[in-house]
Parts: sequence; C-alpha cells; structure tokens
Amino acid sequence: MTLYRAQVMDTPDDPFRGGALRADADAGLLVVDGMIVERGPYADVRREHPGETVVDLTSGLLLPGFVDTHVHYPQMRAIGALGMPLLEWLDRCALPEEARLADAGYAREVAGEFVASLVDSGTTTALVFGSHFAPAVDLLFERATERGLRITSGLVVGDRMLRPELHTTAQRAYDQARELARRWHQQGRTRYAVTPRFSLSCTDELLESCSAMHADTAGCWFTSHINENPAEIAKVRELFGCGYLDSYDKHGLVGPHSVFAHNVHPTDTELELLAASGASVAHCPTSNAALGSGLFPLDRHLSCGVRVALGSDVGAGTGFSLFKEGLQAYFLQRLRGPEGVPMTSAHLLYLATSAGADALGLGDQVGDLEVGKRFDAVWLDPPPGTPLAVGLRHADGSSDALAKAFALATPHDLRGVWVDGERIKG
Ligand code: GUN
Ligand code: ZN
Repeated sequence: MTLYRAQVMDTPDDPFRGGALRADADAGLLVVDGMIVERGPYADVRREHPGETVVDLTSGLLLPGFVDTHVHYPQMRAIGALGMPLLEWLDRCALPEEARLADAGYAREVAGEFVASLVDSGTTTALVFGSHFAPAVDLLFERATERGLRITSGLVVGDRMLRPELHTTAQRAYDQARELARRWHQQGRTRYAVTPRFSLSCTDELLESCSAMHADTAGCWFTSHINENPAEIAKVRELFGCGYLDSYDKHGLVGPHSVFAHNVHPTDTELELLAASGASVAHCPTSNAALGSGLFPLDRHLSCGVRVALGSDVGAGTGFSLFKEGLQAYFLQRLRGPEGVPMTSAHLLYLATSAGADALGLGDQVGDLEVGKRFDAVWLDPPPGTPLAVGLRHADGSSDALAKAFALATPHDLRGVWVDGERIKG
C-alpha cells in the first residue's frame, strides 16, 4: 500500500460535453496492488492511514498517464523530415526506414529507443503501428513488456504500392497475425491490433483477411489511416471506386474497436458512419502540420458525435510528447478562425488522457485518477528556475497552471511515470 500526496488534475467528465477540469490542490491517493482504492484531501486520507508509506509529489503536478492512440514504432529514426506531402514522405523517408526492420538486430535497437521514448514522454498507454516484419513486432511487444507499458499493436500489412520487401499476401498476413496474437493478445498489458497500413496499400483480398483475423480474435483492436491527404484520397477512390471509409466498411472493419488516424478530409456521410458505429479518430496535429495534410475539422467530428483522441503519429509527427500534440491541436483550432473549436487546458488534457483511454476501450481502467482505476500517472516537476517552474509558481489557478504545462512542458520536466503503481521512470 502506498499513499501518494500531490496536486492532482484529471478529466473524468468530458469537457466537450460540459465537464470541467478536476483539480485537487492537496490530494491523497491510496494505491493497493496498482489500483487507486481511496482518494480525498490528503489530511483526511492520512488520518485514516497513519502508518502507510507516503510518496510526496507536492512539488509539482500529478496527471494521468498519457494515451497515444497513433504512433509508428519503425519510424522512430524518421522523425523530423520536413517539406514533403504524405505520399512523397512515405516513399522517400518512412518506407525505406521501415524496410530496415527486416534485420532483427536493427529492429531490437529501434524497439528499445521507441519504448524508452514513450516512457520518457509520459505515455503509459499506446496504440502502436507495428512493423511489416513479424519478428520486429515480437521485439516491440517484448521491450514494452519489459518496461511495463500498456501497448496495443500488431503486424502492419500491405500487398501493393509499397516497396516490394514490405508486401505480404492475404494468407501470410493472417497466419503471422494469428501467431503474434497467440503470444501477445491479452497477455499482461499487451493486446493485438489488426493493422492494414491504409487501403491504398491493400487489395480487397488482404482487407478480407484482416477482417477474418479481427473476427477470429475476440477483444482485438483494428487501426489504420483514413482521409489524410487529398492526393491519397483520390487514389483510394480510383482503386476501390468508393469513399475511403467504405473501403474499410465493406470488409466489416468499422466498429467500436476501430481507431482511424487523421480523418482530416471526411465527408458528412463518413462522419455519420463513424459516429453510428462507435469508431474513434486519432487526431495527429503535429503530423498534419508537418506534412501539410490540412486543418482537422474538430467541430464537425464533435457535432456528429465522433469520438476523437490524440496521436503523436511519430515519425510524421514531430515527437512523442502529448503536451506538444495538445498544444498543436489548440493552435490548429485557433487558426481555423470561426470554425475552430475553442479549447481550454481541460480539453487538451482530456484529449491526451481520458479520450484516448475511451478510444482504446480502456476507460474503465485508465485515463483519470479516480478510485477503482489503475495508478497510471505522470509527475510533472520542472527544474527550478525554468520558464515552466516559474509559470507554475505564478499560475492563476489550476486551469492556468495546466495551460502553462501544455505550453512549456517537455519530457525533461517529468520526474516520475507510473503504470499500475510501478514506477517506470524516475
Ligand atoms: N498513411 C499510410 N502510412 C502512413 C504513415 O506511416 N504515416 C502517415 N502519417 N500516414 C500514413
Ligand atoms: Zn500514421
């Protein structure tokens, strides 16, 4: 049993639907076997539990662990390429790097770097685009398990329009996915996700094998890309003769366990289907800006009732920090003028935590720091004298303090990260 004492902020109630930031200036959280069993004013919880070990985190802010709903493991070393739109960037940067993970020694190094970067940035749960190579996916799951992260991931598949060495077949995709799922699905903190790269790189036969894999693996997730870039969308229409979402839906791949990355250019019909099916969208704002993909229509998603969470989309995205993604999401809505959705720091925290947990079907376990949830948390405590430390000290209330965190925090400001009550950083 451990008693954590901290200034705690979380978003158990959706601020897009009238909820507010929950901020407790001096909270006590009692954690037993990784679960929060009591929460209240520190003095009250302490009185009830005078003998428990106290972990004093009062010098900073305690937030729920971040949930990244879209991040590519094999693109760890591809971050930071500038000046290209999606399809050129894939050909020139992402896919050549992804091909290198055919070498297990190379993949092992990348898996180590990738998992370390998630932990370091305070991401405790992630939906990860794996590799096109099954041994590399094993290495990711192994490393994530060693470090204690909650990871949902899978073999990325495509059978056209990539590099030949990244192509698979419908049968091989199914067989390798089944084998990986047997080893990793619902084992400890890991789960399997069926992951066709995007319909542009998949024939109907391959998507049908993804559908079979999804149907045959109870509780597994589905993720892919959608409506990211106008040239891409036009090619999908040319190849499939239908809209982008329909290219997945005709294989039964749109449902409450589906997470689609980007959706920058959806039609109204697509938004209606996403909402009705309970699918989620991973909004990836630094990626959209870096590739010039477009301005995410958050207003249209919200008004249709589509679930939206945040993704870093490393390596098109420019880093692992969901503070940075939250800030970029905010900037983007500001720049959309009257169509932009006004957001407070509570909205940003919600998108980076509770919304992601909800999109991944983990909202009963993580996403906020309520009694009954797992203790997945990040402790933000910047070095003294830094602009963030100064800002937090002079903040005008909790919402302002949290806004300063989104504006200024980097992974270097995180002194502790916990999953299930296990400290995995600091
Ligand atoms: N569409 C298909 N593959 C990718 C990828 O790796 N990154 C992004 N941003 N979009 C994609
Ligand atoms: Zn992506």
